[in-house]
Amino acid sequence: MCGIVAYLGKKPAQPILIEGLKRLEYRGYDSAGVGLINPDKIGIKIIKSSGRISVLEGLLPEANPKEVLGIGHTRWATHGEPNTINAHPHLDYTGKIAVVHNGIIENYSTLKTWLISKGCKFASETDTEVIANLIGYLYSGQDGKKTPNGDQNKFEWAVQRALNELVGTYGLAIICTDFPDMLIGAKKGSPLILGLGENEFIIASDAAAIVEHTTQAIYLADNEMVTISSKGFHTKTIDNVEIRKELKQIEFSLDAIELNGFAHYMLKEICEQPKALNMCLGGRLDARDGRVVLGGISKYWREITRAKRIIINACGTAWHAGLVGEYLFEQLARINTETQYASEFRYRNPIIEDDTIVIAISQSGETADTLAAVEQAKERGATTLGIVNVVGSTIARTTDTGVYLRVGPEIGVASTKAFTAQVAVLAMLAIELGRRRHLSSDEAKFYIEELAKIPAKIEKILTKSEQIKKIAEATCDRENWLFLGRGFNYPVALEGALKLKEISYIHAEGLPAAEMKHGPIALITEGMPAVFIATMCSQYSKIIGNIEEVRARGGRTIVVASEGDENIKQYADFLITVPDAPEELQPMLTVVPLQILAYHAAVLRGHDVDKPRNLAKSVTVE
Ligand code: F6R
Repeated sequence: MCGIVAYLGKKPAQPILIEGLKRLEYRGYDSAGVGLINPDKIGIKIIKSSGRISVLEGLLPEANPKEVLGIGHTRWATHGEPNTINAHPHLDYTGKIAVVHNGIIENYSTLKTWLISKGCKFASETDTEVIANLIGYLYSGQDGKKTPNGDQNKFEWAVQRALNELVGTYGLAIICTDFPDMLIGAKKGSPLILGLGENEFIIASDAAAIVEHTTQAIYLADNEMVTISSKGFHTKTIDNVEIRKELKQIEFSLDAIELNGFAHYMLKEICEQPKALNMCLGGRLDARDGRVVLGGISKYWREITRAKRIIINACGTAWHAGLVGEYLFEQLARINTETQYASEFRYRNPIIEDDTIVIAISQSGETADTLAAVEQAKERGATTLGIVNVVGSTIARTTDTGVYLRVGPEIGVASTKAFTAQVAVLAMLAIELGRRRHLSSDEAKFYIEELAKIPAKIEKILTKSEQIKKIAEATCDRENWLFLGRGFNYPVALEGALKLKEISYIHAEGLPAAEMKHGPIALITEGMPAVFIATMCSQYSKIIGNIEEVRARGGRTIVVASEGDENIKQYADFLITVPDAPEELQPMLTVVPLQILAYHAAVLRGHDVDKPRNLAKSVTVE
């Protein structure tokens, strides 16, 4: 969702802010802006616009070398429409304070009414302007409290007092005209990272905007703030208690976030899956002894092994991976598992007993609903385990224990490599948990050996991209599609439908194939595409029956089947084969042609695959 970049250093800030904002484009946004301290005029220059960063660039004057302090933002509208006035930065009513903000201020309406009663003027409909005005009001001394205690500067003091009044979430970067060499950042519930370069500091909501300048970083925790000047920085809580923060290394390289010749990040990440899965599985599989080694959770195996119930929480694609996990835990570890939408779980009254493990799956580690579900589970005494990609993200830090995906940054808004890795991690957990409960060493060895073969099998599927493109050419003019699967491939049907709708804007419904007869079959008309996952599995003959039902009604079948299955040809208008694998592991293979199909359909329909309308990469608000 929204992105923050702020800079204080020796170089002109404007181009650095714009480059940083471009690195955050993938997160989704609808307007953008920058604010720069102009030391000559001692004022804040704000330039913003709705639409793409390229529109903003067109409005910018030539960079001024003296403007070495600035803040930038990409906004994804929550309060107020995505127009120029509502774009960030927001100036306070005195014109001295400028703020960029990620998150949502829940008590903004009360604060706004109060500030208006004190004479503050508002120009926008945003909650962020309340922050700017509140800081401005407290800074002005109009409330009668003019000086901070001790040697604390007045700008930092006003920010702290304002932060203590806010209810909700924020990642903030703030500047003040009276302090042309000072940048303040603060965090609660929305990520904020301080990058430490040579004679320069960059604050950003995402490491992707920092890594070009430095890999040395400090990750702020909730209720912490940082005050930076050209001489250095200090970190405090928002209650003014000094804290020492550990310096961390940003793990990914610039290369990982470049397109490297691919037309889109989504395509790059689809193609990266063999490598990504090798990184995910690397060093974790011990085929000789039939064991899985997951260092991060080694201390928690006792709790996990004696658990009687697993609840998986996630959203979107991660939820689909979770559903595969539900089948895996049931099948391989014989443990009761249910997968819940985090947005539902957080507001239910879930029964969590001593022996319940709650697993949260999230690529970004910042999804607001998933985080709230973890907090709810912890409050009720569950042991929580995170399956997360972004190292150091909030969910990774909030859960008791966890396993990282280790697939590098996922930039494409449509999640691809994270899904296959989430399933791989769930499979590893299920095998090891099974091994500790009832699975024999030979059974575990079998699954581990098969898991290790998955990356090479995906490589083979990727060679079919041109064939799949032709299928997309023949079908992508249709506005309604069905995706059908059974057993382990039912979640893949859901994921295939989600991929198609989110980037090609085709309406698609994913279903367990047998459910079709209970209603959706009424939708089938002549030529309607129906994608079936009909690989060799325990329900093979059943799914053939479902294919026949669709064909009998004129539907056009696109069938994902196992290599060497001659029988299936008679049922498929279009056939895509994938290498065979045990059915528990098939989702990592069968999803790949559906990702490729969605990609080609979207490109053929002329859509910007990496910037699908209305979508954000990381959904940090409810
Ligand atoms: C779809 C997609 C979303 C995410 C969902 C959860 O392609 O990317 O459905 O899977 O928003 O995001 P994370 O995994 O970051 O919690």
